[in-house]
Amino acid sequence: MRPFLQTSSLVLLALLIVPFALYAIDFGQSGLRDALPEPHYIQSENTVANVSVFVHMATGAAITALVPFQLVPAIRRRWPALHRWSGRLIIVAGVATAVGGLVYIALRGTIGGTPMDIGFSLYGVLLLGTALQTIRHARAGRFVDHNAWALRFFWLALGSWFYRVHYGLWYLATDGLWSNPQFTGGFDLVQNFAFFLPYLLGVEIYLRRRR
Ligand code: HEM
Repeated sequence: MRPFLQTSSLVLLALLIVPFALYAIDFGQSGLRDALPEPHYIQSENTVANVSVFVHMATGAAITALVPFQLVPAIRRRWPALHRWSGRLIIVAGVATAVGGLVYIALRGTIGGTPMDIGFSLYGVLLLGTALQTIRHARAGRFVDHNAWALRFFWLALGSWFYRVHYGLWYLATDGLWSNPQFTGGFDLVQNFAFFLPYLLGVEIYLRRRR
């Protein structure tokens, strides 16, 4: 029963993520083709910044959409080769997402200024670190450590989606209280960290209890 519930929850999660993944892929590929419907504030004169941010959207969409399947017990058990190959793909895409986002922040900065630069940079560094640790422990055959880092990576990979979910729910409930288009309101400032840190803390508590 437990593997069935786990699999159903992961498949449901993957379905909920699909609209955001499609939005991110479409945004990324339109940006790379210079075919955004109207010039977007994210675009700049700097080609490296443009390529970094648009590639990070496409690779980010791939990791967000694929990562739930990595945790499906039946796939890991029955098709270990598939788990390994999709895992490698997700790690490469995760590294590209984090590096792309970090390069963009370094060259261009975010719309929300320093607090958002700090929050998003921390997010990128954590995503990069957990991706590298996940594959490092898998290659060394340390599967307890691999599982722990993979779980951290999983929650971080969902972070960008959680960011939009938090905003959507907040705007539904409060009509945008403490939030503004410059991303400098109280809610915006908390959001710079709240889309990944609480989830990471939850993983640490879970891992400690399990040990
Ligand atoms: C996890 C997968 C990720 C996906 C799917 C994703 C997707 C996106 C999308 C679609 C946008 C455009 C936002 C909009 O205007 O609607 C965006 C913006 C941005 N993302 Fe990501 N992203 C991901 C991860 C990351 C990471 C890890 C970083 C940090 C290194 C990052 C940094 C940024 C930055 C700096 C912007 C521009 C913020 C601004 O100034 O408005 N993203 N992302």
